[in-house]
Amino acid sequence: MLQLGIVSELARAVIERCHAIAGFSDHPSNITRLFLGEGMRACHTYLTAWMNSVGMQVDIDAAGNVRGFCPGTDASAGSILIGSHLDSVPNAGAYDGVLGVVLGISLVEGLAERRLPFSIEVIGFSDEEGVRFGVPFIGSRAVIGDLDRETLQIRDRTSMPLERVIRDFGLDPARLRDAVVSSSARAYLEFHIEQGPVLESIGVPLGVVEAILGQSRASLTFIGRANHAGTTPMQLRQDALCAAAEWITHVENAANSTQGLVATVGKLEAKPGASNVVPGEVTASLDVRHAVDSVRTRVIEELLQAAHEIGRRRGLQVESRVVVDQRAVSMDRELTHICERALERAGVRPHRMTSGAGHDAMIVARRLPAAMIFLRSPGGISHHPDETVHEEDITLALRAGIHLLEELSTCPLHT
Ligand code: GLV
Ligand code: MN
Ligand code: MN
Repeated sequence: MLQLGIVSELARAVIERCHAIAGFSDHPSNITRLFLGEGMRACHTYLTAWMNSVGMQVDIDAAGNVRGFCPGTDASAGSILIGSHLDSVPNAGAYDGVLGVVLGISLVEGLAERRLPFSIEVIGFSDEEGVRFGVPFIGSRAVIGDLDRETLQIRDRTSMPLERVIRDFGLDPARLRDAVVSSSARAYLEFHIEQGPVLESIGVPLGVVEAILGQSRASLTFIGRANHAGTTPMQLRQDALCAAAEWITHVENAANSTQGLVATVGKLEAKPGASNVVPGEVTASLDVRHAVDSVRTRVIEELLQAAHEIGRRRGLQVESRVVVDQRAVSMDRELTHICERALERAGVRPHRMTSGAGHDAMIVARRLPAAMIFLRSPGGISHHPDETVHEEDITLALRAGIHLLEELSTCPLHT
C-alpha cells in the first residue's frame, strides 16, 4: 500500500498537471480544446512525455485517443482500462475529463516499480463533448469499434469532414480498426468530477455512479428570408430568429412541465448576422435528458414537431435532424460493488448516485463492465472556468483507486 504522504504529494501534482493541461487550448485566453485541434496536439505531447517517464508505452490511435500501457506480470490476467476525455467545451474549466486521465496516470505513477498481474491501459479520449462535430463520444466509439463510415463523413462548421481532420492531424483513418480495445480487456474505470451539487450538499467527498441518464441531441435549421431591417414591414417578414425564439420558449415550458426533464438550446447561429438585416436562417442545437428513455424520446419528438408547426405558421421552412439518441446506461453491478468497497477502505462512506452528465463510460459499457467514481464539485459548478475540485478529495480518490486495483488483482471479475 502507498504511504499517505506520497498520496498527498501525488494529489498536489494532479492539480498542477490539470492546470498545465489547461494551458493547451485552441483559444488564446480560455480553455477550449476541441477534437484534434491545436490544444489537443500540445496535450498529446505533454501526456506522452509524462507517461513515458513513468514507464508506460504510448500510442495515439487513429481516432486521436492517447493510450498509455503499463504491462502486468501475468498475460492471462488481461488489462484494466482507466480513462476519461481530453476535449472540452468552449471556455471550460480545468477538470472535466482531464482529471480522470491525470488520476489514471497518477495511479500508475504511484505504483512505481510495483506491478499488478493485469496490465493497465490509461486512455485519454479525443472527443466526448461533441463540440467540434455536434456528435459526442467520437473517441470512445472508436475504442468499442462503433465509428462507422457515415460518422467519418460528418463535417465541422468549416465543412471539413471528420475523416479529413483525422488525416490532416497526421493519423490514418484506415487504421481505426486497430483502435478497438483488445479482447483481453476486463473492465473500464472512470474517475470524474460530479459536475453537480449533490455530493457537496450531503458533505460526502466521493460518489459511486449507478447509472448515467440517457440523452438526445438534435440540430434544427429555421429557414426564412433575409431582408432589409428598415424597409420590411413586420407583417411581411419571415424572420428565422423570431421563429427560433418562440420555439426556445416552448422548449423551456415543456421541460418545466415534465418532472425530471432537462432541455437546453445551447447553440444558436443567426445568418447573415447583421443588426440591419432580418435574420434569414438560424441553426439551433437541442439537448434533452431524462432518466426514463421513453419520456426523453416522447419529449424530443414533441419538441421537433413544435418547431415544424411554428415554422409553418410563420411561413418558414424547418429542417431537423436527431444526431444523438443515447439510452440511459447502468454501470456494472459487480464492479460498482468493488468501487464501494474501495471507497470504504479509503475511509469514505460510499454514496450511490446517477449522473445527469454523459460520460465515456456509457459508451465503453456496451463492450466492457464499466464503473465510475465521482469527486465532489465545489459549488456544483462545471462547464465553466470556475470549475474546481478539493485537493483532499483527490487524495481520497487516489487511495480508493489503489484499493480498487488491489482488489481487482485478487478477485477476478465474473465477465
Ligand atoms: C458532457 O459533458 C455532457 O454533455 O453530458
Ligand atoms: Mn463535459
Ligand atoms: Mn466530462
